[in-house]
Amino acid sequence: MDVVSLFSGAGGLDLGFHQQNFNIVWANDFDKFAIQTYNENFSNPATFGDLNEIELDSIPLADVVIGGFPCQPFSMMGHEKGFEDARGTLFFRIVEVINSMSKRGKKPRVLVLENVRTLKTHDKGNTYKVIKNILENELGYKVFTQILNTVNYGIPQTRNRTFIVCFANHDAQYEFPKEVELKLTMQDLLEENVDQKYFLSDKIIPTILSEGTGGYRAKAEIDLPVARPLTATMHKMHRASQDNYVTDNGRIRRLTPREAARLQGFPEEFIIPVSDTQAYRQFGNAVTVAVSNKVAERVKTTLQELGEWN
Ligand SMILES: C[S@@+](CC[C@H](N)C(=O)[O-])C[C@H]1O[C@@H](n2cnc3c(N)ncnc32)[C@H](O)[C@@H]1O
Repeated sequence: MDVVSLFSGAGGLDLGFHQQNFNIVWANDFDKFAIQTYNENFSNPATFGDLNEIELDSIPLADVVIGGFPCQPFSMMGHEKGFEDARGTLFFRIVEVINSMSKRGKKPRVLVLENVRTLKTHDKGNTYKVIKNILENELGYKVFTQILNTVNYGIPQTRNRTFIVCFANHDAQYEFPKEVELKLTMQDLLEENVDQKYFLSDKIIPTILSEGTGGYRAKAEIDLPVARPLTATMHKMHRASQDNYVTDNGRIRRLTPREAARLQGFPEEFIIPVSDTQAYRQFGNAVTVAVSNKVAERVKTTLQELGEWN
């Protein structure tokens, strides 16, 4: 099953599909550091470039198109502007990619799109309504949507993401993966003998542990058994109410990039060739590999049921 991966980042979504024997024939990102990580870890190199500027005809035909399209303008952290601003943006570029493949003779059998948890409620539900309408009525897919939380797939991180899985064959009965029991805590994934640079200085501790003021008060808990959602801006050292800190030999430190990778389900052999800042961004942006793997497994099962797996 040939896969085209859009917005591939460091390859979290891709890795889950690769583990389930999908064959990623083309991947793309416009972040050179994400490409660097991707190409260290995948045998088929990703193409560097802005998807809006890449010739549609140069993207190979595929059975499956996957893409965690960038959160804005759908993200809660974005401007909450809605669809006028989204027109001409990346969701529509995905639609153009699918249309181009169809025109060239091969409509992808499956699309797997990923986005923030709030996609369905954004702009009073209008954003999702438009997306669903285009997927169903313009592109002709049967659409299945569900929010999946990483903590329900064996990894101790709270991370809710919307998954949209679409099948060209309307006989498809896609079921989202079953939840599994959590057997790990964040503490099980911590490294030993961590470099001093990850420890907080005495000077910064009061700021990190402060609970904010007025309406922005939030509990500054550290050493959580289940990590808070990893963010793409972890390098900025947010307050403890929004980020993950742990006690290590009586001192407080932040997570290392390797721990961030583990909390996103990346295997130990996954190479991290970039700076800490870039690594935090890439793992903070990634789809949890364990979740992607399970979604991919269910896609495979559904295609097998349809007699379309080859
Ligand atoms: C949420 S991340 C994807 C993470 C990835 N799916 C994973 O699991 O590791 C979104 C990615 O889209 C890329 N991106 C944003 N706009 C782009 C564009 N116009 N062309 C290509 N890539 C773009 C960003 O650099 C970022 O790596």
